[in-house]
Amino acid sequence: MRKDPFSQSSKLEPEPSRSTEAVRGLTRRRFVSGGASLGVLAAAPAFLRGLRASAQEGPSSLFTLGVASGEPHAHSVVLWTRLAPDPLAGGGLGERVVPVKWQIALDPGMSRVIRDGVAPAHPKNGHAVHALASGLPPDRWLYFRFHALGEVSRIGRTRTFPAQRGGRDHMRFAVVSCQSFPDGFYRAYADLNEQELDFVVHVGDYIYEGAAAVRPFDPARNHIGSEIVSALDYRNRYALYRLDPDLQEAHARFPFIVTPDDHEVDNNYAGETPELSSPTQGEAFLARRRNAYQVYAESMPLRPENRRAREDGGLRLFRSLPFGDLAQLHVLDTRQFRSDQPAGDGFGSTDPDSAALQVVFGEEIFDADGILDPAATLMGARQEDWLRGSLAGSRATWNVLAQQVMQTRWNLVGAARVTIEQSTALGPELKQFLLQQIALVDEISNVDAWDGYPAARQRLFDSLVQSRARNPIVLTGDIHSAWGANLLADFSDPASQIVAAEFVSTSISSTFGGLDPRPTHGFVRGGLQPGNPHIAYFNGLYRGYCLCDVDRTRWQTTFRAVGTPAQAIDPSPTALVPLPTSPVETDAVLEIAAGFNEPGRNGRLETTFARPIPV
Ligand SMILES: [Fe+2]
Repeated sequence: MRKDPFSQSSKLEPEPSRSTEAVRGLTRRRFVSGGASLGVLAAAPAFLRGLRASAQEGPSSLFTLGVASGEPHAHSVVLWTRLAPDPLAGGGLGERVVPVKWQIALDPGMSRVIRDGVAPAHPKNGHAVHALASGLPPDRWLYFRFHALGEVSRIGRTRTFPAQRGGRDHMRFAVVSCQSFPDGFYRAYADLNEQELDFVVHVGDYIYEGAAAVRPFDPARNHIGSEIVSALDYRNRYALYRLDPDLQEAHARFPFIVTPDDHEVDNNYAGETPELSSPTQGEAFLARRRNAYQVYAESMPLRPENRRAREDGGLRLFRSLPFGDLAQLHVLDTRQFRSDQPAGDGFGSTDPDSAALQVVFGEEIFDADGILDPAATLMGARQEDWLRGSLAGSRATWNVLAQQVMQTRWNLVGAARVTIEQSTALGPELKQFLLQQIALVDEISNVDAWDGYPAARQRLFDSLVQSRARNPIVLTGDIHSAWGANLLADFSDPASQIVAAEFVSTSISSTFGGLDPRPTHGFVRGGLQPGNPHIAYFNGLYRGYCLCDVDRTRWQTTFRAVGTPAQAIDPSPTALVPLPTSPVETDAVLEIAAGFNEPGRNGRLETTFARPIPV
């Protein structure tokens, strides 16, 4: 019997042809050796075209960006590829429309095909192909591939969700976010690819919009060109990321459920407002935003209703996916419809005593009116209404909110105090003055997260409580560090009723504060308690991701970390940068028992395993 190429121990490639090996070798050498120059990369497309001429079977030069799948339902799933013989320069197929045949089969050898069809690869979509394969059996592995212009893609693997009453009592999946390409290698994905998972949830910052030379610790792993603005720019940027072999492998192995955050468009943008320092403002920003969402839709394995451009060029991405009756996944979009952040984009406070701290934060942070504005919103009214209904209609054991920015209250007065205490830039008199001032300040918040929108958070918590949704779990990214928190009805009272539990996945590769995460980790950790007793776990040292292992009785989240405690005390400033050889280990395991939010229960997160945090 033929070996399943997707078995966890094997590097998959069914019957690799010589050309396949060469193509894979090229991308792997380019991205893994670190010795190659950009010149090699620029030469790649021509080399790939040469290979295409000799390719008779197996993945080839048309399919340089691999295959992907996503949005699993019980009887359907989206299959994706993009024809791009010249992936970093627009794709290379010009204005022609290319018919692409797709097949989905029960077996990894593709001998038992159960559905097939033809989808056009159109230049207006960058020759991306989305096929909605329907009529599929629920809760099982399926295999798929594409044919175009006499070539055939690699075989991808995907999985349908169980039917509503499918008897499935267990699921295991990964949560990922924030994968800035120049900041490190995708060791986290290499580890994820060895896991047994039903699916992967990506909660944003799939690409970063910045120019080349942003902290390139390795000159061969960098962005290309300037900050991206046009549809062509965004297309080439997605291609750069998708050429990474570990990311490409993850998409070929597991269906993804994705939602964007800010960097898919512009750092810290809100609704129709760009970041203050953005190179595009006004109408130019709106055009850029339209380009960004257009190419996001092209690049991701999304359903037709989520890819269709709205009048403003945006997408309707909030949606709900049932994993049988074990879990309901409510996927949120907290970026596209939000009101502008209060107090600038960084930090804010409702306490007038904070006005004296401008020198610490580099901006005015006091903005009580903005932070407490009852009309402020992260989701927009339509999405808030939709979520209320989605929660009320759910009968699932677990209600999962897959979303972008941290929901837990995080009072960072302590972190600011530690920052001042440890500062070597402040003279002794100024330091003394600032320490006296900060002792007067009750609270400081990260206003790009839900802390900047407390009225909107209250409405969300009210929805969670009033809907009686069972076991709400919030999954988050954005902040490039790992957190576990009990979301309480009243954060000022540690004994208050729990509303939900939140797990924040650290970044795949994006830095926490800087290439060396230890200073920022130290400020946050040093100032976390006693001000935030509901926060059960924090670690900013490592890049990585979360594994969620869920059954009817408990939710368990494993924080996978790129790097070790020994590396965390290595004096080299790049000791914790993810490299191709970095070890990946479990940093901590947190659990919560089902029924935690039932009347009279008031459960809490428990840490069942934790490595030492040495710094
Ligand atoms: Fe990020």
